[in-house]
Amino acid sequence: MTKACKLAAGNWKMNGLRADLDEARALASGLGQTSCGVLLCPPATLISAMAEAVAGSRVMVGGQDCAAQVSGAHTGDISAQMLADSGARHVILGHSERRADHGESSALVAEKALAAHQAGLVAIICLGETESERDGGQTLAVVLEQLAGSLPQGATSANTVVAYEPVWAIGTGRTPTLAQIAEVHDSLRANLPDAAISLLYGGSVKPGNAADIFAIANVDGALVGGASLKASDFGAIVAALDAA
Ligand code: PGA
Repeated sequence: MTKACKLAAGNWKMNGLRADLDEARALASGLGQTSCGVLLCPPATLISAMAEAVAGSRVMVGGQDCAAQVSGAHTGDISAQMLADSGARHVILGHSERRADHGESSALVAEKALAAHQAGLVAIICLGETESERDGGQTLAVVLEQLAGSLPQGATSANTVVAYEPVWAIGTGRTPTLAQIAEVHDSLRANLPDAAISLLYGGSVKPGNAADIFAIANVDGALVGGASLKASDFGAIVAALDAA
């Protein structure tokens, strides 16, 4: 069985102006001989400039969403091909903020992932339970249903990454126990269409907890929000993943 690749992915969300590209440059120049993939997903306005800023380094650049359609009359939307044309290699899809704020269903996420694959992008497909779903003992049922509904036909380790992000852990400073993360990741691994798809954990990953999380057997990396905005913090998380 091929082993899943390690990936440290940063999600800048709706943060970042051109002046903040200095953080991407600092991350790129501070990276040693890391064996893991390093990805920053800035807002779409910065993709092209960030790709130029980190050119020649190991840092890859990605988008945070794409349209399901290829082109046409969809004001304000951005196609997967446009992201690729701007220098993106990956795109985050189905983040809980998009599922909640924009009513995105797993079926729509699967359509977007197919569009991403057709444009040659790696789709990072996010899933995770809410706090009430966890309290109600529904965590595994919820994430497995999202997994089954959000991955398109043809998803392989070459074109797809899955990120488990408990909604209640995002931006809150709270994380599940290591045993709870392990339980979900083991269950996801057993249900992937290709066992070598990388499984990321996301939700309040920081330099201080990254090493413990990366020591979990079926965790191949992290999707990092707040701590990806500063090169020093994200660089420390990359170093922890490299050492895992
Ligand atoms: P956080 O966000 O690291 O700020 O909790 C994670 C995410 O939403 O991907």
